[in-house]
Amino acid sequence: MKHPKIIEYDENINFKQMVLDEGVLVIRNYPKKIEEKNCLFVSRNLLKGEGLNMYDNTKTLKWNENNGGLPVVRKISKTYFLHEMKVPWHSEVSVSSDVLISALYGLTNVNMGNTFFCNTTKLLKNYFNNDIDYLKSVKMKVNNKVILGSPSLEFGWGWHLPCNFNKISKLDSIISPLLIHSITKEYYLRLDCLHIIEILEDNTGLFSKCVDELQSFSGSFNSNFSNEYISQLKWNDTDIAIWDNSKMIHCRPKINIPDESDRELLQCIIFYSD
Ligand SMILES: [Fe+2]
Repeated sequence: MKHPKIIEYDENINFKQMVLDEGVLVIRNYPKKIEEKNCLFVSRNLLKGEGLNMYDNTKTLKWNENNGGLPVVRKISKTYFLHEMKVPWHSEVSVSSDVLISALYGLTNVNMGNTFFCNTTKLLKNYFNNDIDYLKSVKMKVNNKVILGSPSLEFGWGWHLPCNFNKISKLDSIISPLLIHSITKEYYLRLDCLHIIEILEDNTGLFSKCVDELQSFSGSFNSNFSNEYISQLKWNDTDIAIWDNSKMIHCRPKINIPDESDRELLQCIIFYSD
């Protein structure tokens, strides 16, 4: 089982470049050099984002009252978000013209649910042998809205945003799995299984096989596929995980949080436009 790269906080590190290279990074923030109240600082300064634009799709702005400005931080907890159900593979926003980097700060009991990451850039290179012509021929039928558990959790993972590759909008339900990274200009793969209803025009079946591998992943590293492409973040409170949603998809197995406790994280998503 692989673990995402762990680093210590150092204000001189160019985190943005490192995240673009690695896909996902974990800052083992112990002893606590970055306080939770400085989570916005993590997002604004560590990532050195130009033209930051945060779309707060949950309107959980409480955490931002004293900070103001963009991006915003939302608190993920029992009160606000999924506390026991399984969260399937996804990227934070599915259709976007921008690159999105997530910064997630572990507040309390984060070890109750570890996060798995799959490196889709590596899949493109090794699993699909960079066969762009083949991948261009594949189409996916997708959900344009996601409702998980309760209508209050309906947030659609950003289907309001136009896509940079084939100019789709939220109204299009047949899309390509290929996108172009707005910073590196390289191809990347959209593999957020949460949205895929049906795979079309897959003449070799390889893409469908890949989606099957992902969908059948149960959290154990018992296949060549999981060993090669998936890593598991074992959370500690105060850890900060940062990842490029173009290169990595993530999921979390089903967890059970006792009524008397909570598992809380702070999330900040940063958009980088062209
Ligand atoms: Fe997520």
